[in-house]
Amino acid sequence: MKTHRIGIIMNGVTGRMGTNQHLVRSILAIREQGGVRVNPGETIMPEPLLVGRNEHKLKKLADAHGGLPYTTDVAAALADDQWPVYFDAQTTLRRYEAVRQAIAAGKHIYCEKPTAMTSADGMELHRLAEAAGIKHGVVQDKLWLPGLLKLKHLIDTGFFGRILSVRGDFGYWVFPGEHQPAQRPSWNYKNAEGGGILYDMLCHWRYVIDNLFGNVTGLTCLAAVHVPRRWDEAGQPYDADAEDAAYSTFTTDQGIICHFNSSWCTRVRRDDLLTIQVDGMAGSAVAGLRDCRIQSDAMTPKPVWNPDIPSPIDFREGWALMPDTCEYDNAFKAQWELFLRHLVLDEPFRWTLKEGAKGVQLAELGHESWKKRAWVDVPGL
Ligand SMILES: NC(=O)c1ccc[n+]([C@@H]2O[C@H](COP(=O)([O-])OP(=O)(O)OC[C@H]3O[C@@H](n4cnc5c(N)ncnc54)[C@H](O)[C@@H]3O)[C@@H](O)[C@H]2O)c1
Repeated sequence: MKTHRIGIIMNGVTGRMGTNQHLVRSILAIREQGGVRVNPGETIMPEPLLVGRNEHKLKKLADAHGGLPYTTDVAAALADDQWPVYFDAQTTLRRYEAVRQAIAAGKHIYCEKPTAMTSADGMELHRLAEAAGIKHGVVQDKLWLPGLLKLKHLIDTGFFGRILSVRGDFGYWVFPGEHQPAQRPSWNYKNAEGGGILYDMLCHWRYVIDNLFGNVTGLTCLAAVHVPRRWDEAGQPYDADAEDAAYSTFTTDQGIICHFNSSWCTRVRRDDLLTIQVDGMAGSAVAGLRDCRIQSDAMTPKPVWNPDIPSPIDFREGWALMPDTCEYDNAFKAQWELFLRHLVLDEPFRWTLKEGAKGVQLAELGHESWKKRAWVDVPGL
């Protein structure tokens, strides 16, 4: 058995995403399953190097997982050929500079979204990566959620007929932090620290829409700072000046209208934290993170407006739950495995820094639309 060992510098690994999704549920899960088996005689084995500022936190994380190597010296890690890949899940403001330095050091790049705070910087990273001849990828995890894979199957097999519109509803109540701790980091609510739900979520909606419903051509976006005072990790109050909700409508080159609500100020009474309803001439579907419910034209009830009587139709009844026809892996892990295959086998990998820059562009234009209170076109990058 030939094993391709791939050393990965994991910066920002002590954070929420770094630890849970990327280290534990992706890289360590891949190691526990014996690597990525690419054929009967070959395996790819990722070898993480934990990197961060706080030695104590790194040691604790490293020890919790069997004594992984760690360092606070990013420059030394970048200079060491033992680690050919640089992964970044630091807070957003630090990404551009960190990834730029890693490209300059000749590392392959895999990183979280947003890749930068401006599309110009995002595209600059793409150009630098291409010029350096390195391989690169950006996390677009939602594409591998079971619910979205089911939607893709419905699209590919023509279930919807002509698709008319899409309604995405994302969000949940993030506690302000006064009476109980908030469940998201405080930097998310501060502009000066790269927060705001537009940068957080429009990056996702860009690749979800581009990949499923056609390239985004325009948008209108209204955002809001609904909760201007929040309490941080130390229990201290602060002014939350970054938008905590965004109401956006997108058009695509397939003529599909996609409306997405993104909110940290809403209480959930829907099937999941994210639901996406797709309405087509031949049928409709509502996908959550894992499940997807469908209603074909023939199963569609015929409602008549009459608020004077209780509804004679149970609208939730007329939907069928799509079965799981395969095993679904963690979405982040699924994309990591494809990136590792891309590195070793040179298999195609479309989720590049350029695609990441498109996500940043949508967030940027969301801000522009909000500020101008106007429709904004999305130019090609
Ligand atoms: N793909 C997704 O679904 C998804 C979900 C949430 C967050 N994210 C992205 O992941 C990134 C991290 O988000 P998070 O929620 O894990 O944040 P977090 O605050 O939990 O973690 C941030 C990490 O960056 C490090 N860091 C912060 N400031 C630093 C500094 N000045 N110098 C060096 N390191 C510093 C922290 O130590 C920590 O390791 C963000 O860019 C965010 O947009 C992606």
